[in-house]
Amino acid sequence: MAAPALASLVFTVRRREPELIAPANPTPRELKQLSDIDDQAGLRFQIPSVLFYRHSPSMNGRDPVRVIREALAKTLVFYYPLAGRLREGPAGKLSVDCTGEGVLFIEADADVTLEQFGEDLQPPFPCFEQLLYDVPGSGGIIDSPLLLIQVTRLKCGGFIFANRVNHTMCDAAGLIQFITAVAEIARSACAPSVPPVWRRELLNARNPPRITCTHHEFELSTNEANTKDITNPTFTTLSLEAHRSFFFGPAEVSALQRMVPDPQQEGYSTFDLLTAFLWRCLTIALHLNPEAEVRVIMNVNTRSKFNPPLPTGYYGNAFAYTTAHSTAGKLCSNPLEYALGLVKRAKGNVTEEYMRSLADLLVIRGRPGFPMDRIYGISDLRYAGFGGVDFGWGKPAYGGVAGSIPSMASFLVPFKSNVRGEKGIVVPVCLPIHAMERFSKELESVLNLSDIKSVQKYNSTIKSAL
Ligand SMILES: *[C@@H]1O[C@H](CO)[C@@H](O)[C@H](O)[C@H]1NC(C)=O
Ligand SMILES: *[C@@H]1O[C@H](CO)[C@@H](O)[C@H](O)[C@H]1NC(C)=O
Repeated sequence: MAAPALASLVFTVRRREPELIAPANPTPRELKQLSDIDDQAGLRFQIPSVLFYRHSPSMNGRDPVRVIREALAKTLVFYYPLAGRLREGPAGKLSVDCTGEGVLFIEADADVTLEQFGEDLQPPFPCFEQLLYDVPGSGGIIDSPLLLIQVTRLKCGGFIFANRVNHTMCDAAGLIQFITAVAEIARSACAPSVPPVWRRELLNARNPPRITCTHHEFELSTNEANTKDITNPTFTTLSLEAHRSFFFGPAEVSALQRMVPDPQQEGYSTFDLLTAFLWRCLTIALHLNPEAEVRVIMNVNTRSKFNPPLPTGYYGNAFAYTTAHSTAGKLCSNPLEYALGLVKRAKGNVTEEYMRSLADLLVIRGRPGFPMDRIYGISDLRYAGFGGVDFGWGKPAYGGVAGSIPSMASFLVPFKSNVRGEKGIVVPVCLPIHAMERFSKELESVLNLSDIKSVQKYNSTIKSAL
């Protein structure tokens, strides 16, 4: 199920000095406001992602660093806001000052081959901090570069494209739209096939703003049982963390479908099923007080929910958060369909009106983040398009997030397993070591339930365990 972490793989990365890559031609100097969805406190962080490429005989003599550096400068002419710097105005409103200063770019070489990373390339990646060097002062300062890219050549002729973007500027779909444009221009297109659209005012609050929907993720839990878990070793920062990826192929997905024989639950998606399952395993692993409230927070892409839809090419944040919540006890002692029902209902709440109400809430309440207590995020990257980015060397051997956010969030990454010889989904998870042991034990025991009888037996034991 889970691949062993290649902790033993050690290699050296030689880096050049980081450089700023500016747009290849002059671009307009203007101040562009972000949307009221973009500039929420909950998005003021950076998300690292990574693409691995094999050696390609047809590209012999071409240097990926040079090809990408040049394509990047040309692409920034179209995406010039990404070459600017963020400014914070009154009431925390963010704007990008299109200074054309550029994005940070690092050229590097590693004395390792792609094969040495193992047959299945999946997070955690050894020495990742070498593959995306955290340039001192580049993260967290208001006028720092918005994008950091490192291209690392490998000994075998393959290379790694790693990057980190400030989430306030774009979501995963928007980032991939940009990287795809760089790839198209690297393959000698004159312009991106999808022209970028700014139009951030489309996701601004209404005038006057009015909260019309329920946004549970911004509510502070008043549940007293939550405070009793503070001494739970699972939550102490002292405990070491374990990183692992879990693969869900056709067999795992059918095993989960077997857990939900109830026809009432028809119309759920693989995302709903996996989210419900991961949330439940995680809660079991954390050994919480049964009365404590637990929440799972999901990203729902709303690009198609608008009428008229958001313009093609919009690369700002266009997803809504939605949260399902339960007590830990109910979640763990009920069959999977209980969690599934909660997940489905939370997702069903996301409509155009929900997104408008969210923008209004953010403005009325001063762009809050959400309380991080007992919350786990699951984000669906299956359709973000990482797998299609071709700089001329073909499709990536791996494309997706560089890992999970420790104890906070996991991602569903589309994945072709060479070991298993099939396509599926890989989910990176990072938890304190003891919680990870319980998590994988619970996960495997459910995935091993091979028929309806064993599912029924499992469901009756969890009930009696309360
Ligand atoms: C992202 O940008 C926001 C707004 O300027 C800033 O508050 C935050 O520190 C940045 N985050 C990082 C990690 O650079
Ligand atoms: C869905 O929306 C309704 C109406 O706003 C609200 O009462 C309910 O709590 C929401 N459910 C979830 C799971 O967000």
